[in-house]
Amino acid sequence: MENIKKGLGTKPIMSLKARYIWNNGEFIPWDDAKVHVMTNALHYGTGVFEGIRGYFDNNQLYIFRLKEHVARLLNSVKMYGFGIDYSEEELSRAIIETLRKNEFRVDLYIRPLAIKGVGPIGLDIRKLKTEVFIIAMPYGKYFEKEGIEVTVSSWKRLSGQTVPILAKVTGHYVNSVLAKLEALNRGFDDAILLNEQGRVCEGSGENIMAVKDDTIITPPLSAGILDGITRRSLMEIAGDAGFSIVERDMERSELYTVNELFFVGTAAEITPIFKVDGRVVGSGDIGPVTLKLKKLFTDVVKGRIDKYKKWLKPVW
Ligand SMILES: Cc1ncc(COP(=O)(O)O)c(C=O)c1O
Repeated sequence: MENIKKGLGTKPIMSLKARYIWNNGEFIPWDDAKVHVMTNALHYGTGVFEGIRGYFDNNQLYIFRLKEHVARLLNSVKMYGFGIDYSEEELSRAIIETLRKNEFRVDLYIRPLAIKGVGPIGLDIRKLKTEVFIIAMPYGKYFEKEGIEVTVSSWKRLSGQTVPILAKVTGHYVNSVLAKLEALNRGFDDAILLNEQGRVCEGSGENIMAVKDDTIITPPLSAGILDGITRRSLMEIAGDAGFSIVERDMERSELYTVNELFFVGTAAEITPIFKVDGRVVGSGDIGPVTLKLKKLFTDVVKGRIDKYKKWLKPVW
């Protein structure tokens, strides 16, 4: 726990390790959570995962939308036909127990990971065990800056005709890594990926929203996005707050003239985009709609708005 305590400053806490990791029903010390080089997932990307946040406030630790994340994990398993030995209830309970066992009292990132285990070289995964890990760690901001500069990637987002893109699969993320690396190497903070039709899709690990003429616009599922839980939550919060919000395809060129633009996702939360491909977005600062949503979202995840407490699972 010392490293956790050390992280408790005013600076953002990036990923720090914890004491225990849950592995197939047992707690093991962090340093013992290792896999063999013949693990199938290392070779072929045969793993599914989730990213979940835990928020600590007012002496309470809440998990944001645990049910939806576990459901998405199991849907990813189903889409790939991986098989897994644990039910939604068992996985949810294991996640809560992992936080309790580590005695966390800080903001967290939780990473459930289910991978195809050790087996012979080859693509027949039918007989391979699905190894499940639940990793949780103190975590701060994904982007250290208040607002970021992004570029449209030369890599297109994987198509739904190539892989089941609604699944959150480790192998799919080479696409995100390529886009992110390209952006970083060109001096940007992140990338926006277009789909194969050239329409706006999403960030390397975030969904995207824009504000144009007082309307919030976000690409639809049919654009090939990941069905983000933050995106869905924000659509509901924004609608309840009286904003008009539409899901529709966006042209790349629209990115350059919208009033506000921001990424949404578990890791990124709500991150304003100040520049796209060198063009300033709106005033070049956080816009009024983004600011309002950011404040509302913080209140929601910290359990300060009764209406949305149904989205929070208390740990303690
Ligand atoms: C490619 C991609 N898109 C969107 C998201 C946002 O989804 P969520 O809000 O469920 O974290 C993520 C993060 O999980 C992602 O990796």
